[in-house]
Amino acid sequence: MTVLVTGCAGFIGSNFIHTWFAASDEKIVNLDKLTYAGNLSNLAAFKNDPRHVFVQGDIGDAALVARLLSEHQPRAVLNFAAESHVDRSIHGPADFIHTNIVGTFHLLESVRAYWTNLGDQDKANFRFLHVSTDEVYGSLSASDAPFAETNAFEPNSPYSASKASSDHLVRAWHHTYGLPVLTTNCSNNYGPYHFPEKLIPLVIHNALAGKPLPIYGDGQQVRDWLYVQDHCRAIMRVLEAGRVGETYNIGGWNEKPNLDVVRTLCAVLDELQPRADGQSYAEQITFVKDRPGHDKRYAIDARKIERELGWKPQETFESGIAKTVRWYLDHQDWVQGVTSGSYRQWLSTQYGG
Ligand code: NAD
Ligand code: TYD
Repeated sequence: MTVLVTGCAGFIGSNFIHTWFAASDEKIVNLDKLTYAGNLSNLAAFKNDPRHVFVQGDIGDAALVARLLSEHQPRAVLNFAAESHVDRSIHGPADFIHTNIVGTFHLLESVRAYWTNLGDQDKANFRFLHVSTDEVYGSLSASDAPFAETNAFEPNSPYSASKASSDHLVRAWHHTYGLPVLTTNCSNNYGPYHFPEKLIPLVIHNALAGKPLPIYGDGQQVRDWLYVQDHCRAIMRVLEAGRVGETYNIGGWNEKPNLDVVRTLCAVLDELQPRADGQSYAEQITFVKDRPGHDKRYAIDARKIERELGWKPQETFESGIAKTVRWYLDHQDWVQGVTSGSYRQWLSTQYGG
């Protein structure tokens, strides 16, 4: 059997491939456009592995997707492909509309055409799993209950609005056409292969380079953090046993203000790779201008996936962060490889050189 996954040269997708092949020999056809966020070095372990077929292309390329579906006859399509960085969506929302909304629409249409022509048994067993974010629910105040699957969508950034739109399309393709869909909405992930534009890998990278650790505003914004492989295991579980048409929130019950996350990273780095001058990396913390429209708090109520599918995170924040910092220390060559000219250009756009 085969699954077609999109966007698996990126952070979560590449971790998904590692997690999948640790548990299964089922073939993955990986369709990825290789934007700045896609790195085949994340998948170097599977370069000559017949279980992994890599195809460079766009989820919105209907002819290509139709050919891949017809050739490989997958039993499921998992959609990880997206533009995923809030700050980039503020500087340039067009790519987010193109991939997250229009691309998902074309992918749904290609998959619907394929699924419609399957035999009865294959049709009933087929799944389209859409990977999404908790950011579609908007922002919570300190006293609000965590996001449940029944919360209304109130997205605030171009990124979250584009993901919310794609979630709505997926829902509609189920209700209107009967496409057997599953949607997951997960909190902030961290772990290996995380591109150093996001908070945790950026802070590790800047700390080791002796650069400022930029905290937006007062650093009191709260995110729920989940180790990426726990997210990947949840997706596998939803694919295996999730109820068709349902949405599953995934989170780590791990709410932390940004400043605490950065202080924790500094403390782990102080222990594993102390600064030459004996000072703490926390000395490099620098408060910078806040993100426009910055969401104050995200938190996930993960009881549905725990109750219905028996999933629970395996890592605590402490164990996950320690593993992550160690991974970055051991993979500085990977970091060098992805922090190319275009990365430096982004730093200059966002942080002013
Ligand atoms: P990422 O930016 O690291 O990777 C995205 C991947 O998609 C890249 O490999 C890129 O080349 C590919 N891609 C982009 N546009 C494409 C297109 N048009 N066609 C084909 N491939 C394309 O993102 P990520 O952090 O791995 O996130 C993966 C998914 O999980 C996204 O849908 C994101 O919204 C969702 N998500 C992310 C987080 C998080 O904390 N990172 C949390 C919850 C949900
Ligand atoms: P990020 O990793 O971009 O994820 P998201 O915006 O999708 O939650 O940011 C996580 C939090 O860290 C968010 O509140 C913004 C904040 N942040 C900083 O304070 N400084 C930074 O340099 C970055 C990239 C993020």
